[in-house]
Amino acid sequence: MIYPIVKYGDSVLETPATPVREFDPKLHKLVEDMFESMYAAHGVGLAAPQIGISKRIAVIDVTFKEDPQAKLVLINPEIIHSEGRQSQNEGCLSIPEFRESVTRARKVTVRAQDIDGNWFERSGEDLLARALLHETDHLNGKLYISHLSALKRDLMKRKIRKLMKAGQW
Ligand code: NI
Repeated sequence: MIYPIVKYGDSVLETPATPVREFDPKLHKLVEDMFESMYAAHGVGLAAPQIGISKRIAVIDVTFKEDPQAKLVLINPEIIHSEGRQSQNEGCLSIPEFRESVTRARKVTVRAQDIDGNWFERSGEDLLARALLHETDHLNGKLYISHLSALKRDLMKRKIRKLMKAGQW
């Protein structure tokens, strides 16, 4: 099932999500649907709040279907190490049409549970590090615009409000 993507302005995106405790078939189905929804929206990462479900679940595929091994499911993830710095343009499926340069760590390690509840650690660099940070932020109710300067953020919010008023958001 493909879920519609929740857009900026919905409070679910700015609410810290709840930990997952049940690793049951319903969770398996939800994760499958999240990958399907992410690919349908042409994204490389998706967090459950972005489909209106306030739970600590994220999916990532920085290769966008190229490498099945790259599919990553993160349940209850936490960034446990980060180092270095990188600045790249970043976007978000919940803030369509906008992209801004965001400075983040260049290398991170995340600790998370897999779909069966087993804890694992995974390190990533560059785009994967960015995706791990971006999606973990989502689960903490944080959007990438919170990493921008106040000036850039306010300008973006003004543009979005205009789009909302025009019924184009
Ligand atoms: Ni996002």
